Amino acid sequence: MPNQPTAPMPPLFTWEFAADPYPAYAWLREHAPVHRTTLPSGVDAWLVTRYADARQALADSRLSKNPAHHSEQAHRTGRVGIPGERQADLMTHLLNIDPPDHTRLRRLVSKAFTPRRVAEFEPRVQRLTDRLIDSFAARGSADLIHEFAFPLPIYAICDLLGVPAEDQDDLRDWAGMMIRHHGGRRGGVGRAVKQIRKYLAELIHRKRADLGDDLISGLIRASDHGEHLTENEAAAMAFILLFAGFETTINLVGNGLLALLCDPGQRALLQESVQRGESGLLATAVEELLRYDGPVELATWRFATSPLSIGGVEIPVGDPVLVVLAAADRDPARFDRPGTLDLARRDNPHLGFGHGIHYCIGAPLARLEGQRALATLLTRLPDLRLAAEPGELRWRGGLIMRGLRELPVSFTPEEPANVIES
Ligand code: HEM
Repeated sequence: MPNQPTAPMPPLFTWEFAADPYPAYAWLREHAPVHRTTLPSGVDAWLVTRYADARQALADSRLSKNPAHHSEQAHRTGRVGIPGERQADLMTHLLNIDPPDHTRLRRLVSKAFTPRRVAEFEPRVQRLTDRLIDSFAARGSADLIHEFAFPLPIYAICDLLGVPAEDQDDLRDWAGMMIRHHGGRRGGVGRAVKQIRKYLAELIHRKRADLGDDLISGLIRASDHGEHLTENEAAAMAFILLFAGFETTINLVGNGLLALLCDPGQRALLQESVQRGESGLLATAVEELLRYDGPVELATWRFATSPLSIGGVEIPVGDPVLVVLAAADRDPARFDRPGTLDLARRDNPHLGFGHGIHYCIGAPLARLEGQRALATLLTRLPDLRLAAEPGELRWRGGLIMRGLRELPVSFTPEEPANVIES
């Protein structure tokens, strides 16, 4: 049962809230764990903040991912979903559909986007990580969001999908437009989405005539009981892989580094461990960083298709439900010392990658990128330090994602490698 509040609810969706939403989430968890609120867009939605309720809601088939189930008024005003995706042919992606369509598409993509494909990709992620660090290592300072966390996932996904090297900077620029306009003017997002869509449709068309061993070719080839993805479905799939794997991974690297740089004891443990070439602590560290300050603050939209009760609260049909992963992952009813960063934490069933049938299909790739990024930075730039007070850092204000606008750091410049002249 919720406890009677002794202090008023901290305001939601202000800039202070964006910088540190955890006190407000603690209040909600305790006093109003299933809470109806008006979002900055004007849409009303339920926020679910306790771990047990969150897990239950993420797996509840009465909560649909299809925006057509949103109650009339807000749906007509078109204020939900991924910005710019209201282009019908991109709508049929995994995060917007329910079984049986979801089951079919997920099975097909799983045949191409396998953990093995990701594991084989490790040397390329390592080379990419090193190349990005090379570009600023001799300078002694950098903005790790713009120069490292931002380009890493977009180039990695482009490589994996099979986007030719000469086109990857275009994709990076369009993806950048999508992020910059996030939560702001939507026109920019719409234009960027259009360009990405046009590019992916052409690429898929070209690949179909000349299949390779990349993921897009894998998507085209994938079949299940004789069924294949249509060109539109393959384009929507490539788009959602780009979109879902981009800002999330930026924020894993950004939020994760910030947490480490603010906790010298934990950072030293991890640094010593990776310098000894161990991988055990690195693996649990990435999971803990996903729990402690994960990239996805709220799971994506869900809509009640029949009356249901969450945590004893009745949710009317058509109402949107937003599961607050960031709140659930700090629920003291599930996690021991939830506000403490403990990189060696073993009992850590965090919801950072979601739960149920929409569980993140890119989790193996995200883990690989997160582990390579942190290990390489801490090894190559061992005295990496924040070049700003943590309280001065600016956070992006979007609803779903939680991430920094910039992460200025300084470090002892790396000596240029000794080149042996032949
Ligand atoms: C640290 C990085 C990442 C985090 C924290 C993350 C988190 C999540 C979460 C929470 C969900 C479920 C959303 C919901 O149920 O509302 C999800 C789904 C998804 N993610 Fe990720 N993700 C990450 C990286 C990636 C990457 C690298 C890719 C692909 C390249 C990816 C592709 C997807 C897709 C396609 C879905 C939809 C799955 C479905 O609906 O069946 N994600 N992710």
